[in-house]
Amino acid sequence: MARILAIGVATLDIINTVDGYPRENDKLRALARRQVRGGNAANTLVVLSRLGHRGAWAGTLADDEPARLIRDDLQRHGIDLRHARARQGASPVSYVTHNRRNGSRTIIHYRELEEFSAADFRLIELTPYAWCHFEGRNVAQLARMLATARAARPALPLSLEVEKPRPGIEALFDHARVLLFSRDYAASQGAGDAASFLAEMSGRLPGRRLFCTWGEDGAWAVDESGHSLHAPAHRPPAVVDTLGAGDTFNAGVIHGCLAGYTVAETLRRACRLAGEKCGHEGLDFTPPP
Ligand code: ADP
Ligand code: FRU
Repeated sequence: MARILAIGVATLDIINTVDGYPRENDKLRALARRQVRGGNAANTLVVLSRLGHRGAWAGTLADDEPARLIRDDLQRHGIDLRHARARQGASPVSYVTHNRRNGSRTIIHYRELEEFSAADFRLIELTPYAWCHFEGRNVAQLARMLATARAARPALPLSLEVEKPRPGIEALFDHARVLLFSRDYAASQGAGDAASFLAEMSGRLPGRRLFCTWGEDGAWAVDESGHSLHAPAHRPPAVVDTLGAGDTFNAGVIHGCLAGYTVAETLRRACRLAGEKCGHEGLDFTPPP
């Protein structure tokens, strides 16, 4: 069991389940509707808590009904909220269309709430944590948070999720020991596949652990010595819901690194965990032993 700090946005996810993805300008009826807490780093912490770790979330919370749902859900999973900061405004909301036929999720995200800042981060005592994970967002502030973490605790492993291209984000990569790239980010850099993308990145970032997910094709990694690795996706009996698959994969990677597994084993187990999640609705699934 390790104490893990994660910094990111927590959202209200309003999920409409439909029988087949709509066409533009369609009008259709949802089969089901649910509202849950979401957000990449928050989801990752929830899965880590199911793997036996103790998570702490650092982010901002509004003072509205969605924020209460977010807070209650994180607390239900034993996530420590002492680093959460109150902000004026409305909670971030994601409107998710979940296609029951193939488990796909299409997300429209709305956010106006001011984000967690470098000044907020400086107040965190990092000594108790064995790992610190960041969502790759809010780049200028994040650069200062990464610098603070490295100066305060040079040996603390830092992971960075790179989901979307954002101006200046590349300057942050050097600070992280583990980088978790999405297919969208790789594609935004002109890459047609994860292996060639990671090969290019590993030339620029020697000595790091690099991962890149590729949906139902599984995921790729490059270890500290520059060896390229692939693990196929784990196929659940039925793909029910892929919302949060990437966040679950990230939890698997952090868990594997903390457990001292090789990168190959970490990659294989992270795919197994993410595939298992895809076979269930939401994140309340039992991780494989
Ligand atoms: P995100 O949720 O961030 O869009 P991906 O779609 O790349 O991320 O999925 C992350 C991981 O989840 C993949 O590497 C894979 O292991 C697993 N995964 C995603 N979709 C499926 C699927 N349809 N079947 C099995 N595993 C999947
Ligand atoms: C899933 C997710 C949702 C959230 C959105 C934010 O990966 O974290 O829970 O609404 O992405 O980008």
